[in-house]
Amino acid sequence: MSARLLIVDDEESLLQFLELMFSEIGYEVTTASGVEEAKRRLSDSGFDLVLCDITMPDGSGLDLLREIRSDEDRRTAVIMMTAYTSTESAVEAMKAGAYDYVSKPFDVEELKLLVERALEKTELYQENVYLRRELQERYTFSNIIGRSGRMQSIFALVERISRTPSTVLIRGESGTGKELIARAIHFNSPRSRARFLSINCGALPENLLESELFGHERGSFTGAVREKQGLFQEASGGTLFLDEIGEMTPSMQVKLLRALQEKKVRRVGGTREEDVDVRIIAATNQDLEEQIRNGSFREDLFYRINVIPIHLPALRRRREDIPLLADHFVRKYSSELGTEPVRFSVEAMRMLERYEWPGNVRELENVVERTLALQSGSVVTASDLPAIIANQSEPDEEIRLPEEGLDLEQFLDDIRRRLMSEALDRCDGVQTQAAELLGMSFRSFRYYAKKMQLAPTRDD
Ligand SMILES: Nc1ncnc2c1ncn2[C@@H]1O[C@H](COP(=O)(O)OP(=O)(O)OP(=O)(O)O)[C@@H](O)[C@H]1O
Ligand SMILES: [Mg+2]
Repeated sequence: MSARLLIVDDEESLLQFLELMFSEIGYEVTTASGVEEAKRRLSDSGFDLVLCDITMPDGSGLDLLREIRSDEDRRTAVIMMTAYTSTESAVEAMKAGAYDYVSKPFDVEELKLLVERALEKTELYQENVYLRRELQERYTFSNIIGRSGRMQSIFALVERISRTPSTVLIRGESGTGKELIARAIHFNSPRSRARFLSINCGALPENLLESELFGHERGSFTGAVREKQGLFQEASGGTLFLDEIGEMTPSMQVKLLRALQEKKVRRVGGTREEDVDVRIIAATNQDLEEQIRNGSFREDLFYRINVIPIHLPALRRRREDIPLLADHFVRKYSSELGTEPVRFSVEAMRMLERYEWPGNVRELENVVERTLALQSGSVVTASDLPAIIANQSEPDEEIRLPEEGLDLEQFLDDIRRRLMSEALDRCDGVQTQAAELLGMSFRSFRYYAKKMQLAPTRDD
């Protein structure tokens, strides 16, 4: 697509000359002979560049410039033309956001070059806007699926806290989307233009983790052949995601705590302190409170990072999200595989919804990917699903006394437990609602829930 130019000048002959010249180069040119006409043209369509005279009978080109610039979407470059060397209006034009200005009479080749360069810049700018949008989109809510009440309140929380600089601790079982949420926080925050860097604190031995985080000086240990910046510096202005923070060794915890408290880091083998400016998001699937009790996690570090806690519920606690997620992954993988999107039969979907998903969303994603890769028809039936999902036994429909007899109390307890757990799932863990669903009093629901350890639940 060729670039679109709007040329504004009250001098008819100059207007014609410029129109002819720029059309010949291949631009799409529109002309306007005054401020009012230019405003009309601008409202009809978007231009990549406006070449605009300053002094015109029906107004000033500077007002037009300001109007263009007041548009949020700053994609139009503006070059001003001044009738004579009037430094004052040139300065004013630059201040108001013109890309550049030329003084009449101008050198035609110079003007061509200037226009070309200005357009390159807007193209680059637009490309950047586009890339940034794409990145943002990948981690904004359009790609994070969840209609369950719990996920909806997490989205609302994420939106609110994105704007703050506070440290966030994301907890949840493996595969519940901790990293996805961390990225969403970053890409929705004022830090989104700087980097999001992530490190798995459990994957490296302590000395390597320290040098990854804080950097090292040359020769500070065998293998440190050159100096290296740490992630705290590399993510400067951005976000550092400390994954599996529960796996950090106690002495590393001390070093991290110091860095967070003092907002300064010192490289391994170094003496100089460097200021850091990163937002920390930590994640873990471990029970940090338990780790604090048994002494493997520092309580002071816990309070430092647990400023804003987010708990991602296991997938089996928000089963209403399963069909949406399954469809989302079908779309994702069929477009990746270049195949037509398939759909799940009612029975297959019921099995997905009933399965326990110990690996949570990641497991569901893998199942969908694998199923699609092996799938030929347009409908996925129960028999296309992995055996562990397809072979789940139907819930008992009929109760019979087995040959060998049974322990009735135990049996009833089992049923009570199963129904209570299902009710909790359906009510997003809200005990009062689950109790109501089962015709139980809140007190007795709470009593049994505690006894049977139906955790985690909420009292509200
Ligand atoms: N709500 C969701 N919507 C869409 N995709 C999701 C959602 N939650 C998780 N996923 C996808 O599931 C996969 C696992 O998510 P992620 O890596 O964020 O989980 P995690 O909690 O960090 O897991 P682990 O503890 O194992 O590191 C990713 O591919 C992610 O895109
Ligand atoms: Mg993860």
